[in-house]
Amino acid sequence: MYGATVDPHVVPILVCPSCQRAGSFTLGRTVRCPCGVAVDATAGYLDLLATGTEPTATSSEQRLMESPVVARLYERVWRPTFVRVLAGRGAGASVGGFAGELFIHKGALALDHGAGPVLDLSCGPGLFTRALAAAAPGALVVGLDISRAMLEVAAQRARGYANVVLVRADAHKLPFTDGSFAGVNNAGALHAYDDAEQALREVHRVLRPGGVLVGSTFAQAPTLVGRVTARLAGIRRYDPGELRAQLARLGFAEYEELRLGGAFVFRARRP
Ligand SMILES: C[S@@+](CC[C@H](N)C(=O)[O-])C[C@H]1O[C@@H](n2cnc3c(N)ncnc32)[C@H](O)[C@@H]1O
Repeated sequence: MYGATVDPHVVPILVCPSCQRAGSFTLGRTVRCPCGVAVDATAGYLDLLATGTEPTATSSEQRLMESPVVARLYERVWRPTFVRVLAGRGAGASVGGFAGELFIHKGALALDHGAGPVLDLSCGPGLFTRALAAAAPGALVVGLDISRAMLEVAAQRARGYANVVLVRADAHKLPFTDGSFAGVNNAGALHAYDDAEQALREVHRVLRPGGVLVGSTFAQAPTLVGRVTARLAGIRRYDPGELRAQLARLGFAEYEELRLGGAFVFRARRP
């Protein structure tokens, strides 16, 4: 998706942020709802937050995620460095080895079987979005983030991926109909939300029955530097068993996790 081209498969699952109607948008250079809402698509993403109150970043980490410089450097420099500091060397599949991380996420989402649509929730500059889109070329992959800077970079890098649609929205209130997605990918973002439980409740709602959530987040920092950095950046870390219990409370089943140093990848299913 870039310029005015938006994969039409997204229309039936998209909810208008103003009138809350599903499937009401018509595509063009401007994406319009009959209620009067017009969403500009020319920047390469649908900004569904531009029609309401602008959210303000509450953590110092999130303020950095809004920076065009960080967004540009994120994939090559910021992400590998940050993961190494916060998760330690034991995060083997993550540190400098995106291929390993992708292998785990792709397998857990069963993308080899072409399952879709898939939501890459908090996609950042779209590292997973592009990789998931390439792994399942027949499936719609929606990359969603709250940061304009991240989405601008994601849009430039996802040129040529016809099955990618990028959306600016808030993870706490997803602009999709119930049961829209076969899979939700949520890499390295749970720790950044103001209310992770609300975001996971939304994930449960937008997954179809049998749909899978795959994510990664941080556990306890293995080093003092990691613990201090996490505290300064306002990063929340999960205690052992905490996420499993939270997801069970929200109605998820079949929880599994894989520890990678001070980080872990998890998978759960909406029954
Ligand atoms: C550490 S980055 C992870 C990016 C990507 N998933 C990856 O693994 O490369 C966290 C992302 O979460 C996004 N984010 C934070 N709060 C959000 C919210 N409330 N709704 C949607 N995205 C959010 C940030 O803008 C940022 O792009």
